[in-house]
Amino acid sequence: MNPDTPLQLLGGLTSREFLRDYWQQKPLLIRQALPGFESPITPDELAGLSLEEEVESRLVIEHGERPWELRRGPFAEDTFSQLPEREWTLLVQAVDQFVPEVAELLEHFRFLPSWRIDDVMISFAAPGGGVGPHYDNYDVFLLQAHGRRHWRIGQMCDADSPLLEHSDLRILSDFQGTDEWVLEPGDMLYLPPRLAHLGTAVDDCMTYSVGFRAPSAAEVLTHFTDFLAQFLPDEDRYSDAGIEPSGDPHQIQLDALDRLKALLQEHMSDERLLLTWFGQFMTEPRYPELVAGEELQLDDFIQALEDGAVLVRNPSARLAWSEVDIGLLLFASGQSRLLPSHLRELLKSICSADALHLDNLGQWLADEDGRNLLWELVKQGSLEFADE
Ligand code: SIN
Ligand code: CO
Repeated sequence: MNPDTPLQLLGGLTSREFLRDYWQQKPLLIRQALPGFESPITPDELAGLSLEEEVESRLVIEHGERPWELRRGPFAEDTFSQLPEREWTLLVQAVDQFVPEVAELLEHFRFLPSWRIDDVMISFAAPGGGVGPHYDNYDVFLLQAHGRRHWRIGQMCDADSPLLEHSDLRILSDFQGTDEWVLEPGDMLYLPPRLAHLGTAVDDCMTYSVGFRAPSAAEVLTHFTDFLAQFLPDEDRYSDAGIEPSGDPHQIQLDALDRLKALLQEHMSDERLLLTWFGQFMTEPRYPELVAGEELQLDDFIQALEDGAVLVRNPSARLAWSEVDIGLLLFASGQSRLLPSHLRELLKSICSADALHLDNLGQWLADEDGRNLLWELVKQGSLEFADE
C-alpha cells in the first residue's frame, strides 16, 4: 500500500498525512468514507448474535430499572420484544470473528499495523439511544452503518475526569461539547484515545466501531515480567559482593538501589525476549477456544493440498511477524516460532491471510521448513482448510 495515495476512507488524506496529523492526536470526520456502504448484518441478525453463549454483548437502557441500566448478554429471545420504543442500545463485541463480511471491512484499515486492530464492535440503538458521554482509552473509527447518529465530541479526559456514580458504566458527569455532526450511512468519525464523546441515535441506528489494542503500561510490566521470569534460574539473585561496611545496619544504602537497577536492566533489555513477549501478547486471540486446531498427519495434510484444498486464516486467529538477529519470528495466536530467514515471503503471505493452495504454495511445500510451518499452523488452528 502506497502511503502517499489519497484514500477515500480518510476523506482524501493519504495514510501518511492521517498518521502524521490525526492518529492518536485529534478527531477527524470523514463524509462518505465508504460511499454506498450497506451493513452486511441486519439489526435482527445482530440481536440474534447477542443470544449466543460465546458472543460478548451488552444492553444499555437509559431509563431501565435505574438510569443507565447495563445488562450483559447472552440475552433471552424475548428480551428485545420487552424493550421500550426508544433510548436503548445493544452492543456486540468482535462481530468480525463471527461474520466474515464484517471482517472484510478491516481490509480498509491495512494502513495501520494489523496487530494493533482489536475488533469490530457493532451497536444497534433505538431512536434517542446512546451509552452516555464517556471516553475510551483506545482509538476508534466509528462507521455509520445504518440510520443516522448524532455525535458530539468534547474535552480530552483522563483518570481524574469526574464520573457519575455508577457501578457498571463510566459516564462523564461533566461533558464539554466542542463539535457535533449527524452521521449518515457511509460516514465515519475517527476519535483519538481519551476524547469525550456522546452518540445519540436519530432513528434506528447501527454503528460499527473499529477498535484498537493498546496494552496499558501496567499490563506491559506485569505480563512481560511474568514471561521473563520463566527463563530466570532461581540462583539468579540480588548480590552485593564488595559491599562497603555501613554506618547503620538498618539503613538501605543507595548502592543497593544501583545493584537492583543493574539487575532489572540486565534482564529487561533483552530485546529478543521483549519482542517475543510482545508479539505473543498482541496476537493473543480474543476467543482462544475458537483457535482449536486439529490432529493431522503430515502426509494427510500434503494430500489434502494436492487434492485441491485451500488454506485460509482462521478468522479468530491473529498473526504477525518480525525479524531478529538470528532469523524471523512468526507470532500466531499467542505463540511464537523462530524460523529461518528464507521463509520471509511465506510468512508475509500467511499473515496477509491470502488463500493458500497448491499453485501458490508449490515451492514452499517442497521446502521442509515451509511445509512444517504450514502443517503446524493448521494443527495449532491459526490456519484452516476453507470449506468448499
Ligand atoms: C456505540 O456505538 O453506541 C458506542 C460507541 C462508542 O461511543 O464508543
Ligand atoms: Co466510546
